[in-house]
Amino acid sequence: MKIKVVDTYDEISDEAAELVLAQLREKPDCVLGLTAGSSPMGLYERLQAAYQEGRADFSRVRIFTLSEYIGLDEQDEQSFAYYTRKNFCDGLNLSEQNIRMPNGMADDIALECARYGEAIAAAGGIDLMILGIGPNAHIGFNEPGSCFVPETHVVELSNATRAANARFFDVPDDVPHWAVSMGMRDIMFAQKILLLASGPGKTEALKMAVAGDITPKAPASLLQLHRGAIVIADQAAASRLPGYDGCPS
Ligand code: GLP
Repeated sequence: MKIKVVDTYDEISDEAAELVLAQLREKPDCVLGLTAGSSPMGLYERLQAAYQEGRADFSRVRIFTLSEYIGLDEQDEQSFAYYTRKNFCDGLNLSEQNIRMPNGMADDIALECARYGEAIAAAGGIDLMILGIGPNAHIGFNEPGSCFVPETHVVELSNATRAANARFFDVPDDVPHWAVSMGMRDIMFAQKILLLASGPGKTEALKMAVAGDITPKAPASLLQLHRGAIVIADQAAASRLPGYDGCPS
């Protein structure tokens, strides 16, 4: 795992965009795993700008989103499907058949999870996984627990995660209690992983992820075992990492 510390959120987004664009040049039909949330917004804006300016072509790129709330459909503005279409897909020339997202409205959610995992495998796995990190060190919706869950699964969201995500909802109680998430194997089998962490709200989570014990109590800590994982953090998020001296690395 490599850790890169930069000054600002904009620099996180710049660095991340360079890495994703390099991935596209290397493999034009690459498979991207995409997180939702505020962390990748700047990255997604830069990718849309690169496409609009003719610097990138997404026509063969395939995407899989990391997670989805159960009970929200694609039209719901709080769903990750809506977020991904608005903030990523809509500004790009992706082919509709290359956009895959877990369906949080599926009648048989266990079957939906199994099919989603199979679709990821059939695509040859994820080439580049873009992750944020929750304040409790969750990735996707892999919540802290007593074991790592390998495959795409249904998860009961913790109070901490529901509280952290309440800012996106008009009424905090509306945050769903359940979600579907790619599992840790789906994530760890990615060729490359890019984790973006910004702001003081991520300081403790980042410390647990990169400098703590590898434990399911901090799911992001498993990334320490991934050869191709890169963490890009700003100074605020990195301020409590051991050995951090305040200088961008
Ligand atoms: C959510 C998502 C995660 C995301 C995390 C952090 O819970 N399921 O995939 O990484 O929040 O979000 P943000 O970047 O908005 O802080």
